[in-house]
Amino acid sequence: MSTVSASPQTLAINGGTPVRATLLPYGRQSIDEADIQAVVDVLRSDWLTTGPKVGEFEEQFAARVGAAHAVSFSSGTAALHAAAFAAGLKAGDEAITTPMTFAATANCVLYQGATPVFADVSPDTLNLDAEKFAQKISSKTRAVLPVDYAGHPADLSAILELSQKHGLIVIEDACHALGAEYRGRPVGGIADMTVFSFHPVKHITTGEGGMVSTNNPKFAETLRRFRNHGISSEARQRQSAGQWHYEMVSLGFNYRLPDFACALGMRQLNKLDANLARRREIAARYTAAFREVRGLIPPAVRPETNPAWHLYPIRLDLKNLTADRAEIFRALRAENIGVNVHYIPVHFHPYYRDHFGYKGGEFPVAEDAYSRLISLPMFHGMADQDVDDVIVAVRKVTGANTR
Ligand SMILES: Cc1ncc(COP(=O)(O)O)c(C=O)c1O
Repeated sequence: MSTVSASPQTLAINGGTPVRATLLPYGRQSIDEADIQAVVDVLRSDWLTTGPKVGEFEEQFAARVGAAHAVSFSSGTAALHAAAFAAGLKAGDEAITTPMTFAATANCVLYQGATPVFADVSPDTLNLDAEKFAQKISSKTRAVLPVDYAGHPADLSAILELSQKHGLIVIEDACHALGAEYRGRPVGGIADMTVFSFHPVKHITTGEGGMVSTNNPKFAETLRRFRNHGISSEARQRQSAGQWHYEMVSLGFNYRLPDFACALGMRQLNKLDANLARRREIAARYTAAFREVRGLIPPAVRPETNPAWHLYPIRLDLKNLTADRAEIFRALRAENIGVNVHYIPVHFHPYYRDHFGYKGGEFPVAEDAYSRLISLPMFHGMADQDVDDVIVAVRKVTGANTR
């Protein structure tokens, strides 16, 4: 293990030497030779699209997240769209979600012609606040989409209880949270449907890709049809049964995840536990290093959860700093630390302002957090030296800007 030292130096943004010679990204995939071989093997086989690997991957994934069914998709966004469809969302309906997320969470409600309604987040986790959610439930509400922000499970017990009371379907956006646990159970078998993403910065990757897990066989069937044009059988099933006839029974899309991507997904899934362990180790080192730093607030962890640490978002305590978030961000980038910001609240985006009349000020907790958030590099392939570099750079930049 390398050592971490903090000596006063000129910031790179002011002409000093950067902490790193090259940029450390905020997230990155890890692909090994066996992953590559698994993909190559499928490329040499008969099935490139929906073949045997799709079902194998889905079965293994469902078992890992403790759900009866898992249905793969070409992206997390497609998976969200399918879940919104399976939940029966349609024009005139409302679905409640958090503004502190990627736009795709709310967009899937719009794809179905329904209206996303935002409720503010809790100040500690920045996850959907159960009380604020309760206040937004109306006669039009059909579903709720809690997000496991940064990999920290949402307040699932409270959200499920309220949803049961009001007959709402819970679509948990766990695109950040594969492998996270809530009250000792993995996310995936807790909500009505749980959505995952396999984008390269996530815990496992298939290039692009996503999954919906559910314990409800009806949802699983609807999800499978939706990703295949609304057709009730798959080409491979028809071929093996010697049949040509098929029926399109609902409106669907081509949202299928190819066989070679599923082969990669299975290989990656084998490494999930190791990936999670590494992310948790990095988070623990960051938190230990930053807890005492004036001007920094490390992410909170509620006792009933074991987060998956897709992101490590720190909040700046601006009253103790002489610089704002933009200046700290630029200074860290100059040190070659690939910081990012998650998220610009969804209602700040021009599309949402133009279509729903948001002006800012509607969700004060999310908006205040946004002005102070910086995501530090967090990926399972980070070397100890990378982690040290981030700690040194953050101390260097905040140290030079402390009040
Ligand atoms: C919270 C959240 N939901 C949904 C998505 C969409 O997933 P994908 O990029 O696989 O379409 C993302 C993507 O990063 C996300 O962060």
